[in-house]
Amino acid sequence: MIKVEQVVKHYYLGKRKVPALRGVSLEIGDSQFVAIQGPSGSGKSTLLHLIGCLDLPTKGDVKILGKSTNTLSDYQQSILRNKFLGFIFQSFNLIPVLSAYENIEYPLLLQGISRSQRKQRVNTLLKEVGLEEHSKHYPDYLSGGQRQRVAIARALITQPRLILADEPTANLDSVTGTEILDLMKKISLENGTSFLFSTHDPKIAPYADCIHTLKDGLLIK
Ligand SMILES: Nc1ncnc2c1ncn2[C@@H]1O[C@H](COP(=O)(O)OP(=O)(O)OP(=O)(O)O)[C@@H](O)[C@H]1O
Ligand SMILES: [Mg+2]
Repeated sequence: MIKVEQVVKHYYLGKRKVPALRGVSLEIGDSQFVAIQGPSGSGKSTLLHLIGCLDLPTKGDVKILGKSTNTLSDYQQSILRNKFLGFIFQSFNLIPVLSAYENIEYPLLLQGISRSQRKQRVNTLLKEVGLEEHSKHYPDYLSGGQRQRVAIARALITQPRLILADEPTANLDSVTGTEILDLMKKISLENGTSFLFSTHDPKIAPYADCIHTLKDGLLIK
């Protein structure tokens, strides 16, 4: 499904070149739960951004369903982001003026899905992530774990094949972090959705089908 081939990514800070990835290759198949670990600055977020079509490699190729992201138009990239991929962030990134229900519904509004279908899909997911009682609550009135559950439901609502999660448990206490991991694993097994997440969290190891370790922009494992 995803093939990362010899990917190099440099950023520029003024004229100074910052190497973020220095030749990384990996593959992700269907229904896989894949972790990327490594110290701060090792390139984890950069790799997720490239696979998420949020940025392009300096060299090398990211192939999604056999197509190189380098060759896709901006429009084709946005279609992939909206239909094929889901995103979960460390800081949840919910829209504060929308309720839990409305946050989850939002990606479907962008896709022009009918009101009755939206209602059915949002309610199913609210149940799946255990937030039926909180559908009308705004993010400010939810706990960290509840916010991340909303974010997971929002990422899943478009039925993506791959969810990219950048340190999804970093802002959660350890018990809540474990609950969120259990939930993601359950969804992955039930729906066949693949997850790729970056993490510093040692609890993740027993959940992952595969753990990659980045150091200074290179995979060491
Ligand atoms: N937009 C940017 N402009 C310039 N340099 C950047 C940019 N984004 C990342 N970098 C640099 O690229 C390298 C890799 O950063 P990245 O954010 O991918 O690391 P990370 O493994 O996600 O770290 P953390 O665990 O702290 O989130 C770092 O040296 C970082 O300073
Ligand atoms: Mg990061």
